Amino acid sequence: MRRCAWTVAAGALALVLTACGKPAPPAGGADGGGSGGATATAAPSEPEADSREAGAGAEGADTGESAGSTATSEADATSASAHVTQPGGEPLKGVSDFADIADVKARSVALFEEAGKVLTHPRCLNCHPAGDSPTQGDKMTTHEPPLVRGEDGLGPVGMRCQTCHTAKNVELGDRSVPGDPAWKLAPLAMAWQGKDLRAICEQLKDPARNGGRDLEAIIHHVSEDHLVGWGWAPGTGRTPAPGTQEGFGKLIAAWVETGAACP
Ligand code: HEC
Ligand code: HEC
Repeated sequence: MRRCAWTVAAGALALVLTACGKPAPPAGGADGGGSGGATATAAPSEPEADSREAGAGAEGADTGESAGSTATSEADATSASAHVTQPGGEPLKGVSDFADIADVKARSVALFEEAGKVLTHPRCLNCHPAGDSPTQGDKMTTHEPPLVRGEDGLGPVGMRCQTCHTAKNVELGDRSVPGDPAWKLAPLAMAWQGKDLRAICEQLKDPARNGGRDLEAIIHHVSEDHLVGWGWAPGTGRTPAPGTQEGFGKLIAAWVETGAACP
C-alpha cells in the first residue's frame, strides 16, 4: 500500500500532497479523489471563493427562504448562510415545495427524504463512516493515509487530524485539503455510511446515538454548526452538498414541526 511521508508539518502540505496524494497519471486515473474533473475542479474565479471561512458570521440574516434554497445558480451562492456556498452543488427543494402534501405524516416523510439528499451526500458521509477511518472524495474511497479514529475522533498519536487539516481549506491548484477548526471524525454511534435513510432517520432522533440531542438541538446543529456548514464550502475539487445549509436547516425544522416522521 502506498505510504508517504505524511508526518511533515502542515506548512509543507502542498509538497506532501503533490508527492503523495495521487500518482496523477496523465489521463483517466481517478483512483482516489472521487469525482475528479467531472464536477467542481474549475478554479473559482469569483471573489467569494476567498471567503469560505466566513462561518463566523453564522446567523447573519434569515433571508433566503425556500426560493433561495431551491436555486443553485452562482448568483445565489452569495446569499446569507453559515458559509458562502460554493457553486456546483445539486439543487435542494424548499419547504414550500411540500406544502400541497395534505397528509402531515406524508409531508414529514417527504421533507426528510429531501433533507436526506444532504445527509447521504459524500461531504457528510465521509466523516460519518461505519468503521475507524474516514473516507474521501465523491466515491468515498478510504482516506489516504488510512487512519484509526483514536480515542477522541482526532486520530492516532502522530497522525492527528490537525496535522494536515488546519482551520480552513488549503487550496492547492485544482485540489484542496479540507479544513475547519473543529475538524474531527464523527463518533461511531453517529455512523451513517451503509445505512438507508430510514435507519439514519431513526438514529438522528435517538439521543443515545445523536450526542444526547433533542430535536430542537438537531435543528440547531444542522442549521448553525460550522463543521456541517463546511459541506457547502468544501474547497476546490469537491462537490458541495445540495442546496444551502440554510435551506437544509429549514427542511429539518419543517420535518420536526410535522412530527419528525421517518421514511
Ligand atoms: C470533518 C468531519 C465531519 C463532517 C464533514 C460532517 N460531520 Fe457531522 N459530525 C461530526 C462530528 C465530529 C460530530 C459530533 C459532534 C458533536 O456531537 O458535538 C458530528 C455530528 C453530527 C450530527 C449530530 C449527531 C447526529 O448524528 O445526529 C449531525 C446531525 C451531523 N453531524 C450532520 C452532518 C451533516 C449534515 C454533514 C454534511 C453537510 C456533516 N455532519 C458533516 C463530524 C463531521
Ligand atoms: C497525513 C495528513 C492527514 C491526516 C493526519 C488526516 N487527513 Fe484527512 N485528508 C488529508 C488530505 C490531504 C485530504 C484531501 C485528499 C484529497 O481530496 O485528495 C483529506 C481528506 C479528508 C476527508 C475527505 C473530505 C471529502 O469529503 O472529500 C475527510 C472526511 C478527512 N480527511 C477526515 C480526516 C479526519 C477525521 C482525520 C483525523 C482522524 C484526518 N482526516 C486526518 C490529509 C490528512
